[in-house]
Amino acid sequence: MNILVTGGAGFIGSHVVRLLVNKYPEHTIVNFDKLTYAGNLSNLKDVADKSNYKFVKGDICSADDVNNAFTKYKITDVIHLAAESHVDRSIEGPMEFAMTNVIGTLNLLNVAKKHWDLNEKHTFHHVSTDEVYGSLGEEGLFMETTPYDPRSPYSASKASSDHFVSAFFHTYNFPVKMSNCSNNYGSHHFPEKLIPLMIQNIINMKSLPVYGKGENIRDWLWVEDHARAIETIFFNGRYGESYNVGGLNEWKNIDLIHFLCNLMDKKLNREPGVSASLITYVKDRSGHDMRYAIDATKLESELGWNPSITFEEGLEKTVDWYLENEDWVKEVTSGDYQKYYDSMYSNR
Ligand code: NAD
Ligand code: TYD
Repeated sequence: MNILVTGGAGFIGSHVVRLLVNKYPEHTIVNFDKLTYAGNLSNLKDVADKSNYKFVKGDICSADDVNNAFTKYKITDVIHLAAESHVDRSIEGPMEFAMTNVIGTLNLLNVAKKHWDLNEKHTFHHVSTDEVYGSLGEEGLFMETTPYDPRSPYSASKASSDHFVSAFFHTYNFPVKMSNCSNNYGSHHFPEKLIPLMIQNIINMKSLPVYGKGENIRDWLWVEDHARAIETIFFNGRYGESYNVGGLNEWKNIDLIHFLCNLMDKKLNREPGVSASLITYVKDRSGHDMRYAIDATKLESELGWNPSITFEEGLEKTVDWYLENEDWVKEVTSGDYQKYYDSMYSNR
């Protein structure tokens, strides 16, 4: 197989590429990425020299870029992760999200359809989010059958891309598989998202901005478990189906932040309570979804996937990785990022 992984230089994509390159030397893994602020080739230093790894700098919105990659590497399969992924940025600038997430996905589908003989075996795996289902109250979990109800520009763009993927299956019998995952955490996570941002700010004794009352709930999954789920669904999932991915690990934001502060006080040899003293309640995110929680029974019972580690283990590994990789943080936040973050934060 010659597998095109879009967004392979990003957070989750780099874990997917690493897993596939190391585990499947018989397949060629082509990382196709535009290298936006969120994409960094340093995420993949450890596999860059492997003979079954290739990199193409390209834009999923460009038919030429995608066509050229398909032709050059005789692409047989796609795992599509490239996206604009941060809800706060989607509130500031929704157009970019529609372009990349909707038009980019449609362009990829179109080009793949042109290149593939559908009598042969191909797979187009579209990676999506549980945020397409909207916001839960205190009870219940998102199922694959939960109606879509996206509420942020980010989730609206992902929902739209999911609908195009599913339309290709129904209209053209195009070989798609889909997954919708809960919030990921782990190494190489760009430090604008909650967990890596809090880790950085704790290290640097900067304030920890908690949106609203901190009572919103997210369901956290170790990124390497998500990468294994994608591998499982890509190879063994049924065509035309979507699979929810999650580890039954719900945390109220404020409880998670306190847990992280206690852990980091220990790691940094600080007096208990020093990191938590940085907590600052700030203006809430507009349209802030209250609760996400995933039911992954279908993936577990049909394909035998299970999360491999507890949140406590995963969070400690994550903190250790950030403490050992401060250079990575400096590298990915150089350029305009700090200016952007300061301007976002000064609005709150
Ligand atoms: P990320 O923002 O870390 O990485 C996105 C990658 O896509 C970057 O490498 C970027 O350079 C690339 N990219 C952006 N626009 C592109 C374009 N036009 N052409 C080519 N490449 C482009 O994102 P992530 O957190 O790794 O998420 C990856 C995928 O998983 C996304 O589709 C996201 O919606 C989905 N997802 C994320 C989470 C999560 O918790 N982060 C959870 C569920 C699903
Ligand atoms: P985030 O990591 O942006 O993921 P998502 O919005 O896709 O779930 O945010 C996770 C939760 O943390 C969400 O409820 C918003 C909240 N949050 C804060 O309270 N402060 C912050 O600085 C950030 C980035 C997020």
